[in-house]
Amino acid sequence: MYSTLLTELANGTLVITINRPDKMNALNKDVIADLDKALDEVYNNAEIKTAIITGAGEKAFVAGADISEFLSLDEKGGSTLAKAGQDMVFNKIENCPKPVIAAVNGFALGGGCELAMSCHFRIASANAKFGQPEVNLGLIPGYGGTQRLTQLVGKGKAMELMMTADMIGADEAKTLGLVNHIVALEELIGKAKEILQKIHTKAPVAVAKVIACVNDAAKCVPAGFDNEIARFGECFTTEDMKEGTSAFLEKRKPVFKGK
Ligand code: COA
Repeated sequence: MYSTLLTELANGTLVITINRPDKMNALNKDVIADLDKALDEVYNNAEIKTAIITGAGEKAFVAGADISEFLSLDEKGGSTLAKAGQDMVFNKIENCPKPVIAAVNGFALGGGCELAMSCHFRIASANAKFGQPEVNLGLIPGYGGTQRLTQLVGKGKAMELMMTADMIGADEAKTLGLVNHIVALEELIGKAKEILQKIHTKAPVAVAKVIACVNDAAKCVPAGFDNEIARFGECFTTEDMKEGTSAFLEKRKPVFKGK
């Protein structure tokens, strides 16, 4: 049914596993399209009460948007990619009336960190690592990271993380409030299911209203997401973006010129 996802429905919880482990589960166009469809299933299938998003393998949750799709894009292509992803996946998760949680099983970088942050809350395995390393590529986050990271961890830490491209481990992520629980990798999905089973005993209409109201309380500046999409697109006009993405794909360090 999906070319890039594995899905399993049991006891009212749909586990959605992004399944490109040889590419660190990077989000290419096919993954975005499949996630869009899977989320429609979560919205519309009455048997699904809650969902878990996780990554295949033991190394990565999602190591970002697929960098190999960036090189051919211009400004319009860059902003269209960001807007389509936000509409099809990230905002759809955030606004889902049924709880959707991230079970972060390894690297959650760039679009992977953004995917986890769009979920209603996050639990992580001890080996999880979070970061927004886009400046290494001459880019900025484009799937809502400038907004949601700032909202979740505060302005100062968000600035530092996005300017340095530093990765943080599960412990620091928990201290910052980015994740709620840390468990051993082999216990991750079990722990996620256990929390969701507890939520299944509560009134679904009330739970949906909690999601809507907490989202309202945590609303980012409305224009923030649109500005991010536009600024992300502008990065695609720069020499530094071509250098950063080429350097990653050629497995070398980039040399930026500020152009
Ligand atoms: N897009 C496309 N391909 C990616 C990718 C991404 N975001 N992240 C990893 N891959 C690919 C690698 O190119 C490599 O492919 P190859 O085997 O065909 O060469 C494969 O996944 C394994 O990654 P590799 O870098 O060899 O693994 P590692 O263990 O040395 O490093 C990471 C793991 C996650 C630290 C590293 O892959 C990385 O930094 N990824 C990019 C993170 C990023 O910048 N994300 C933001 C994107 S906007």
